[in-house]
Amino acid sequence: MAGIYIHIPFCKKLCFYCDFYHIITSDDNSAFVDSLLKEIALRKDYLNTETISTIYFGGGTPSLLSLKEIETILDQINRHFKVEENCELTIELNPDDVKSDYLAGLKRFGVNRISLGIQSWRDQDLKMLNRRHNSAQAAIALKNTFKAGFENVSIDLIYGIPGMSVDEWASNLDFSFTFDIKHLSAYHLTFEQGTVFGKMLEKKLITEIDEEDSVVLFNLLLEKAGSAGFVNYEISNFGKPGYFSIHNSNYWKQVKYIGIGPSAHSFNGYSRQWNIRDLKSYIKLVNKGVSFFEREELDTRDRFNEYIMTSLRTMWGIDLEYIEKVFEKEGYDYVVNIAAKFTNYGLMKQEKNTLVLTNQGKMISDNIISEFMMPGDD
Ligand SMILES: C[S@@+](CC[C@H](N)C(=O)[O-])C[C@H]1O[C@@H](n2cnc3c(N)ncnc32)[C@H](O)[C@@H]1O
Ligand code: SF4
Repeated sequence: MAGIYIHIPFCKKLCFYCDFYHIITSDDNSAFVDSLLKEIALRKDYLNTETISTIYFGGGTPSLLSLKEIETILDQINRHFKVEENCELTIELNPDDVKSDYLAGLKRFGVNRISLGIQSWRDQDLKMLNRRHNSAQAAIALKNTFKAGFENVSIDLIYGIPGMSVDEWASNLDFSFTFDIKHLSAYHLTFEQGTVFGKMLEKKLITEIDEEDSVVLFNLLLEKAGSAGFVNYEISNFGKPGYFSIHNSNYWKQVKYIGIGPSAHSFNGYSRQWNIRDLKSYIKLVNKGVSFFEREELDTRDRFNEYIMTSLRTMWGIDLEYIEKVFEKEGYDYVVNIAAKFTNYGLMKQEKNTLVLTNQGKMISDNIISEFMMPGDD
């Protein structure tokens, strides 16, 4: 069981908050798609004999690829990897790319999960974020996705946008739940260095919302998503039972995956590697078949820290049996000691042999996780 992630780095317009590797679209994707096909062939043995249980087209904007290009990439994956019959096959779509014939094509190729970047149902937020769609287009896109026969549909929303009130966030959630979506990814707006918002923050042209307000918005999210039948299986991810993202859950469960395309990350259990974050260099180096990535071997401490960082964000939490098996008594004692402090304050709880964050703990998850990190020797 393993995953394949394909990174499509093109965007038509740059959203002011976004730090994912993306560049303004060129009309000709052919050199890029050729390189993707080459990389897939070059790295066919990366996952050894693991079968592929999930494929995820992310970006950037995968929906800027033509149907023919998507089909060619899928054919190449099938040529070089053993893809399981019921493989979860997700594609991220931007609402203004969602056309009926495009959706029908995706369905024909076996795409069975759609993730739509709605972000907000309020036009003023969308303008502020520099999105290229408006809320009416987003509603049509979502309706058309269901009409095309997709059932496993997820949407992305952003909260904590300056100027959005608590009531407006509540309405955004309520309106989302009028659709039969099976999954919601809801992210608090972060101001990343180097983005337009990051630069505006440095120049004090924009301010982040207060921490207390963030807590109110997150609580509202937990409450409304819970009442609508969604399970908060990872801090930012909510799914109806049976509809959690298998691909993303596998990242958090240490399942191996290969990332194809510029900036994509891969993990094979012992090392992580990441492709060069520059399209031109990526194409040039993949064509030569030489070092288009960097690699880091993970030592025991890295693997411990990664396990804590990923598992603690999920409803499955830290598995104490796993900790004892892999990190021995020393790792076990270390975890139990630190956890005691947080369980006493009601920020974590022990359920059988697992340690999970309480709702209160989720609100300060980054601080809690950092307390668990094992420091290096230097
Ligand atoms: C890399 S984007 C790809 C999705 C697709 N390109 C789109 O824009 O609809 C994945 C999601 O991450 C979220 N995201 C990216 N940067 C963010 C930020 N700085 N703060 C909050 N959410 C962010 C957005 O919700 C976005 O839909
Ligand atoms: S959020 Fe999506 S569309 Fe916007 S810049 Fe990032 S990857 Fe591109």
